[in-house]
Amino acid sequence: MKQATRLQALSDDETAQAQIVAQYDSVDGHLFYQKVMGADADFSHFGIFQTPTDSLATSAKNSVAVMAQTADQYVSLKGTRVADLGSGYGGSARYWVAQFGCEMDCINLCPQQNARNQQANVEAGLDQQIRVTEGNLLALPDVWTATFDAVNCQDVLCHIYNKREALAQVFRILKPGGVLVFSDIMAGVRATDDMQAAFSQHNVGDIVRLKTYQTLLQDSGFEWLGFDDHSNDFGLFSQKMADTLTENRTELMAAGMSEAYLERFLHSLLQRRQLAQQQVFQWGIFCVRKPSLAAD
Ligand SMILES: C[S@@+](CC[C@H](N)C(=O)[O-])C[C@H]1O[C@@H](n2cnc3c(N)ncnc32)[C@H](O)[C@@H]1O
Repeated sequence: MKQATRLQALSDDETAQAQIVAQYDSVDGHLFYQKVMGADADFSHFGIFQTPTDSLATSAKNSVAVMAQTADQYVSLKGTRVADLGSGYGGSARYWVAQFGCEMDCINLCPQQNARNQQANVEAGLDQQIRVTEGNLLALPDVWTATFDAVNCQDVLCHIYNKREALAQVFRILKPGGVLVFSDIMAGVRATDDMQAAFSQHNVGDIVRLKTYQTLLQDSGFEWLGFDDHSNDFGLFSQKMADTLTENRTELMAAGMSEAYLERFLHSLLQRRQLAQQQVFQWGIFCVRKPSLAAD
């Protein structure tokens, strides 16, 4: 990345942090993740359907399971230390710890999400195995260097401008041989450059293409393990979110969701469904490894 572009990305990310907190820790945001997308505010990510009749909650849990199983193929997770970057409400961390017996460090920008994460960990009896830190994945703690066997990052990197720095941070905190599994929304093969620019403009953070991630991951020193395309799931998930918003419109507005938020989301979800079908949007899961002999 050229120096001027790098500085621009750094300053964009600084501005983005306040916008991210405003987006996720708002009344509208919490209602949306509690009642529509997130299985009672456990998750704020996209789902994978085992059958088209799976609910949003089931599919959101399925995607956590697929990501954890993907990491477990390469690093047997039991007894390991895992970081969850951009951990949201912490539903993924609780699943990984309960199902795979690892310890988890969550780091996330939004204080209210983190408070909910911490409370849910206590309720689940998992607060000794899961630590929650308020912080920025672009400035991970120095003491985390070469500490983690695996890193999970589910639907977060789309909010980052300086993805090269984010990957450098992940590379630093992984032990040699450690695995990064992440999912993200991207511009698909049929997206023009103008479409891609428009997606980024409507998002906090840059929406990039699969090939950009491949280049960045390679430049950052990671060994490629694979990418699973789940764009069809993303399309169906968007449709089901739109249906849920429509069906629960009155209840959501009575609970405090603003009409403007509801309408904006509905419009964007219906558009995403169509664009995913047309390969203009892409969503999937990456898995890469820090080489065993790599220095930090
Ligand atoms: C779509 S949500 C995904 C949350 C969680 N990974 C999940 O799967 O439910 C995106 C999350 O990224 C977090 N986030 C965005 N930028 C971040 C940053 N620079 N550092 C830490 N967290 C960040 C937000 O706080 C938000 O919770």
